[in-house]
Amino acid sequence: MCGIVGYVGRRQAYPILIKGLHRLEYRGYDSAGLALVDSGGVLNVFKSKGKVAELEKFVESKDLDGTIGIAHTRWATHGEPNDVNAHPHYSDSGEIALIHNGIIENYRVLKDALIENGYKFKSDTDTEVLVNLIEYIKVSSGCTLLEAVQQALKQVVGAYAIAVVERGNQDRVIAARRSSPMVIGIGNDGDYFLASDGASIIDYTDKIVYVKDGEVVIMERDKPLKIVNLDNEKGKIDIKKLELSISQLEKGGYPHFMIKEIFEQPKTIVDCTRGRINAETRDIILSGVMDNLDKFLAARRIIFVACGTSWHASLIGEYLIEEFCRIPVEVEYASEFRYRNPVIHSDDVVIAVSQSGETADTLAAIELAKEHGAFVYGICNVIGSSIARATASGTYIHVGPEIGVASTKAFTGQVTVLTMLAVAIARAKGTITVDKAHQIAGDLLGLPSVIEETLKLNDFIADFSKIFTYAHNFIYLGRGYNYPTALEGALKLKEISYIHAEGYPAAEMKHGPIALIDSELPTIAIATPDHTYEKTASNIEEIKARGGKVITIIAKGDEQMQRISDYYIEVPVVAESLMPIVVSVPLQLLAYHIAVNKGRDVDMPRNLAKSVTVE
Ligand code: AGP
Repeated sequence: MCGIVGYVGRRQAYPILIKGLHRLEYRGYDSAGLALVDSGGVLNVFKSKGKVAELEKFVESKDLDGTIGIAHTRWATHGEPNDVNAHPHYSDSGEIALIHNGIIENYRVLKDALIENGYKFKSDTDTEVLVNLIEYIKVSSGCTLLEAVQQALKQVVGAYAIAVVERGNQDRVIAARRSSPMVIGIGNDGDYFLASDGASIIDYTDKIVYVKDGEVVIMERDKPLKIVNLDNEKGKIDIKKLELSISQLEKGGYPHFMIKEIFEQPKTIVDCTRGRINAETRDIILSGVMDNLDKFLAARRIIFVACGTSWHASLIGEYLIEEFCRIPVEVEYASEFRYRNPVIHSDDVVIAVSQSGETADTLAAIELAKEHGAFVYGICNVIGSSIARATASGTYIHVGPEIGVASTKAFTGQVTVLTMLAVAIARAKGTITVDKAHQIAGDLLGLPSVIEETLKLNDFIADFSKIFTYAHNFIYLGRGYNYPTALEGALKLKEISYIHAEGYPAAEMKHGPIALIDSELPTIAIATPDHTYEKTASNIEEIKARGGKVITIIAKGDEQMQRISDYYIEVPVVAESLMPIVVSVPLQLLAYHIAVNKGRDVDMPRNLAKSVTVE
């Protein structure tokens, strides 16, 4: 939800911090700030409303000396986006500065207690409460800053990834996390880097430590990294290699990350299937599934827990698993699942789907499932993410970092993995023939070239999108595997163009939504060949009979659909169960171009963040 960055070493901290904020800006961007301890030990905080570029303008004339600092880009939880609520926050005395990603749920109680002890607050944030709690403990008990941080965090209910610096100390950053992500980069000349994820670290080092929940990190220039818990017991330092390249974090000549990531999909599907489909035998080998086959074969049911686009991918997973494996499946919004006291059996298998691997609601749903003894499997993109580490086993989708807030290549990667998972389990159960399994595997191997072909629609869709740029509402319709695809297409349009859009099962139109139809309300109907094709054709006719404009996504050369459509977008045809991957590409492109036509900030849409690490 927010991005945090820190540095201590021999280099000037400012350039490292500001570049790190740019790398993390997709996580939240309504205000930004940084704190530096200069060579004289003076603690300076600079912060401003708006994106990181605003902060850069704000500090242009400032003295930015300092080889130690922390920085933050915010997605507001408590307190509106403005200069005062931006991080870092000073403590009351100005001795300490702190940045925070997360939510302190008991901040009100703590704030009232601090006010009773004479503390004054400038902001409306929960974060300012934490920095003053640390100061209060340090001053009232005369303990060290580290002890004060440990004691304060014991009183905190909620999620945090924090970093703290203090006046007069040019050598040490103290950091800690619970539920919000944090990684430490080990530099090559005694310096340390801290960030919410590896994107801000890879420019300087590929040696990375994934900080675990409950750990406190002491990064001291020229001293070994120290990790302890809140009781000061030493923790294990497990240095890993960061699997990330700088080119993956750049736009590579594209105007936006989103369009780059849409065009990456032929390659990312190759990456996603690499080593998992034997090109000769067409056998599918998903190690996470094979190592836990007993759990899947004995599953009473499979429950998906996810949010947003990942929830749409999970719906497709439901169709795939029920069709191929004949195992009952339920798909739950993680945010509902975690609070509705669901029935969970120990022989349930819960599959958590998450691109970031940091979505708070999904993490909480996982913990609930584990408490009831269910086997929990993760399908994530970010290596080493919290969900990847919280689940018993899993499958990475390997589509590389997805920077655009609107998920595209991760969606098609998730559906690809779910297809392989369903086929692997169905083969083991004997609920599909080996020929069927090999045919799907062959189709998956052929998908990249089909997507390549589909991407040639880009110029046509860029031009076509101009017709609908100023529509106020859209309806997306689909049946079967393309019902979740319709939901996903609607979400893409909503979140980057700010146009209201709803997805429905096509047959549902008659149960209310058709009352909305008039010449001002375009309908996008997915009408590719499947066993409900004729039904969808009837739904399209019903809309047209009421003056609605219909844009159909159809099979190349489908003259019947061309005749009944006002506009159509032709796509190549693959197996019905793989059509969501193909059809989602023109829907991604349409949303992208409409948003660009409207001058929207496509990669960082208003009010959103790439990873929702708070409730
Ligand atoms: C998708 O375009 C959105 N950015 C959002 O719905 C996202 O899918 C959702 O927040 C879940 O994120 P996750 O996959 O990282 O858990």
